[in-house]
Amino acid sequence: MRIILLGPPGSGKGTQGDLIEKKYGLPKISTGDLLRNEVRERTQLGKEAEVRMNRGELVDDDIVVGMIKDRISKPEYQRGYIMDGFPRNIIQAQRLEEIDPERREIAIEIYLSDQAVLERLSARRTCPGCETIYNLKNNPPKKELICDACKKTLVLRDDDKPEVIKDRIKVYHEQTEILKDYYSRKKVYFKIEGDGTIETVFDNISSLLDRELARSHEAEITK
Ligand code: AP5
Ligand code: MG
Repeated sequence: MRIILLGPPGSGKGTQGDLIEKKYGLPKISTGDLLRNEVRERTQLGKEAEVRMNRGELVDDDIVVGMIKDRISKPEYQRGYIMDGFPRNIIQAQRLEEIDPERREIAIEIYLSDQAVLERLSARRTCPGCETIYNLKNNPPKKELICDACKKTLVLRDDDKPEVIKDRIKVYHEQTEILKDYYSRKKVYFKIEGDGTIETVFDNISSLLDRELARSHEAEITK
């Protein structure tokens, strides 16, 4: 099973992706995390990506598709995986199907309004070591600005400045939102309200996944 998390910046794809990974034992792939890692390591790819990311624009399709291809060919991804932040346009969605064509998929949109996105992202802090996600208002670390897991000092992402957030929201509406229609046509699209507590949103996603996994298991044994 391939679980694709759709939704605007700040809707909770990373947060929910981590919870799904823990509960269902499928590995999460976040293209944003992979790119930020390249930026931190100062690789050539990272230097190229950084310019686009800091403007809120999408990084080149070939770069991100290459990263995904590399990842999902590894043995630990053969049982399935969770996609956080990929695909982001129709070309990426099509390339994903070419790379891994047989896999059953489900696309879940975590819906959140633009206003709520702005509020959430200005309070987000992230661990530069293990990428754990916090929120100063509603999901703070135990010790102020220190990651609970790896004790590094939390940072504000470079693209979480208000002017960049606005550009990211714009790019989402212009280039990514169309994937809702794309997956609707394939009859694998589901929408979840993102404006609840982290636990409520996760309960709703879990119910949906339990139902769909049971259905896919049934289809498997009656084949
Ligand atoms: P990426 O890292 O994917 O960023 P994004 O899509 O903008 O999404 P975010 O990570 O900002 O938000 P999220 O939905 O993960 O929310 P989170 O769980 O953190 O991409 C960054 C950049 O990389 C892109 O702009 C682009 O340049 C490039 N890129 C990445 N993928 C690409 C691709 N495929 N193609 C081309 N370029 C690509 O939650 C947000 C905050 O809210 C946190 O503080 C969290 O604690 C809090 N929160 C979460 N859920 C709740 C809740 N239910 N209630 C209250 N608070 C909550
Ligand atoms: Mg994220």
